Amino acid sequence: MEMIVKTVFELQKMLDEAKINSKSIGFVPTMGALHAGHLQLIQRASEENDIVVVSIFVNPTQFNNKEDLIHYPRTIEQDLALLNENCSNYLVFNPEVDEIYPPNDQFKPIDLGHLDNVLEGKFRPGHFQGVVHVVHNLFQLVKPEKAYFGQKDFQQLAIIRHMAKAYGFPIEIVACDTLREPSGLAMSSRNMRLSEEQKVEALIIWKTLNFVKANKLTLSPSELKNRAVDFFEKGTLKLEYLEIVNSENLLEADDWKKPTVCCIAAFCGQVRLIDNLLL
Ligand code: PAF
Repeated sequence: MEMIVKTVFELQKMLDEAKINSKSIGFVPTMGALHAGHLQLIQRASEENDIVVVSIFVNPTQFNNKEDLIHYPRTIEQDLALLNENCSNYLVFNPEVDEIYPPNDQFKPIDLGHLDNVLEGKFRPGHFQGVVHVVHNLFQLVKPEKAYFGQKDFQQLAIIRHMAKAYGFPIEIVACDTLREPSGLAMSSRNMRLSEEQKVEALIIWKTLNFVKANKLTLSPSELKNRAVDFFEKGTLKLEYLEIVNSENLLEADDWKKPTVCCIAAFCGQVRLIDNLLL
């Protein structure tokens, strides 16, 4: 079943049929502008499930910056061609906004606690509540057994795990490794907006993450953070944050006793890039 549906009605019809035939459903939510990183999630999902629902929906509620929403790449024809060439057994759900947010929307927000106040949360107020809202509504529509998310959005993954538990969704959240260009640049839909020169400049993120990993234990997390932040003085990217945090609760790491992750957000021209590395 390689096909595209645009309404909840059509989606339910397809999923009801699949469920009558005892097919397992995997789910890969996306905002389109698909790249090899998405294909990796979809291919893994199709190895582990009978049918993969791929949603392509640029979710307005998670953009705290209007310009970012306007400029977010929308490449549906290219996305469908890419899926057609590389994936099988998928169903694309490409709804309009009012299909996802109907007037009788039953969504009730939950408290995300400190998960919403650290890292991205500090700079993108309301972003994660928007992500939780759309993923909640999509989970309710698709009702998959498993849902697949990339580790590149490390904080998003932690929040999705938290919300799946809080709302009691019986869905396994599967984390997939970040796919990188041979240069080390993390694959992202936003890379489409970078020039070739900017793609080279953006490598400072990957180099800094590797520097932090290589120097773990030689300095305290806060000393190492200061050294790493200095890297950005030399380059052209504008650093928004660089944090070394506990990889489970995302709180600032004081020492190296617990697993840690280094997370970076920086602007390359107008394009905001994020990346992270488990240390
Ligand atoms: O990671 C993304 O692309 C989005 O945040 C998601 C999970 C599809 C929700 O809109």
